[in-house]
Amino acid sequence: MSLSIVNLHDHERAAQAVLSEAAWAYFSGGAADEITLQRNQTAWRRWGLAPRVLQDLRGGHTRCELLGRTWPIPLLVAPMAYQRWAHPEGEAGMALAAAAQGCGLVLSHQTSTPLSDVAALVAADADRGPLWFQLYWQTERATLLDVVRQAEVAGFEALVLTVDAPVQGVRDRERRWGMPLPQGVRAVHWPASTGAPGHGLCNGWAEVAPVWDDVAWLTQQTQLPVLLKGVTHPVDAERALLVGAAGVIVSNHGGRVLDTMPATAESLPLVVEAVRRQNPKALVLVDGGIRRGTDLFKALALGADAVLVGRPALYGLAHSGARGVAHVLRLLRDEFEAVLALTGCASVGDIGSDRLWPLETQI
Ligand SMILES: Cc1cc2nc3c(=O)[nH]c(=O)nc-3n(C[C@H](O)[C@H](O)[C@H](O)COP(=O)(O)O)c2cc1C
Repeated sequence: MSLSIVNLHDHERAAQAVLSEAAWAYFSGGAADEITLQRNQTAWRRWGLAPRVLQDLRGGHTRCELLGRTWPIPLLVAPMAYQRWAHPEGEAGMALAAAAQGCGLVLSHQTSTPLSDVAALVAADADRGPLWFQLYWQTERATLLDVVRQAEVAGFEALVLTVDAPVQGVRDRERRWGMPLPQGVRAVHWPASTGAPGHGLCNGWAEVAPVWDDVAWLTQQTQLPVLLKGVTHPVDAERALLVGAAGVIVSNHGGRVLDTMPATAESLPLVVEAVRRQNPKALVLVDGGIRRGTDLFKALALGADAVLVGRPALYGLAHSGARGVAHVLRLLRDEFEAVLALTGCASVGDIGSDRLWPLETQI
């Protein structure tokens, strides 16, 4: 790794230097004017930190508990499609690096590497983080169940149903460049399209979009916990728990779907309040714009149980494969440990809203 790469912004620049313009547009881009994409990052900066000094930090650690198991750190790699387009090591490199850094992995339904290959690489690693599989709803329930069964057999420990993209967002940069996937790179678990009905909103795709009853059905079909990703409204968060979800991931898809949505740092507190009121044990995770250990800390201080990081992991993968991802996650870990110590927290259990300081002016 170049000595000049010392933070996640450096990784972003290094990735842009090696990716084609089309790949860069796909991986880094967002919806429309990319207002939400930018806001996701700046919103974390609107919070300052209020350290406590002279706290006893002996025996400190970053461990956390999720779904009944203890993990090294409350940090996971977010599901992202077509990783072999970023680098030949693709999802395999991403999984190995995440496991080596004790971080979790959510594998995308649009993975370009078979889910059983990815799980086989890391499932037996005792020091890894959680191993979850992300789903998009499918027109045929049987098609969805088929991939659910494969994920169960492979050893994935939870399912993440993404609910914020029932139809494609309007992505200008992607439309300009198209998606020229390299030969041999495809979403290996994605069924050949049978086409949309052709009538109704969005060429009929809205006609086959999932509704709450479908989620209730899914939670009945599997022993695995199901989390809903893309929940930002407190009323939806309550409803998610009522239909059997084990928790929610506060996400706006990294600003890639509906532009001008609030930043996830802004949506998070309301969702946390709604979920905790209904079931203190249900999970709330968050992603979007996490680029620093301070961002991770602030997410936990606002009530999240864990945090997912998206593009920065892809950027590390793009320029250096698994080595690059491992460096990205290592930097986040080291920064987070420094923030814990400097705010006077020996463990994630000590992180509370008393360590946050609302800033009047934006930094
Ligand atoms: C290139 C790319 C592909 C993505 N593919 C998926 C996907 O297949 N499934 C999904 O639920 N989210 C997908 N996402 C959204 C991420 O899971 C995550 O919500 C987002 O990237 C977090 O924001 P961040 O990139 O600022 O960390 C994708 C994001 C990017 C950048």
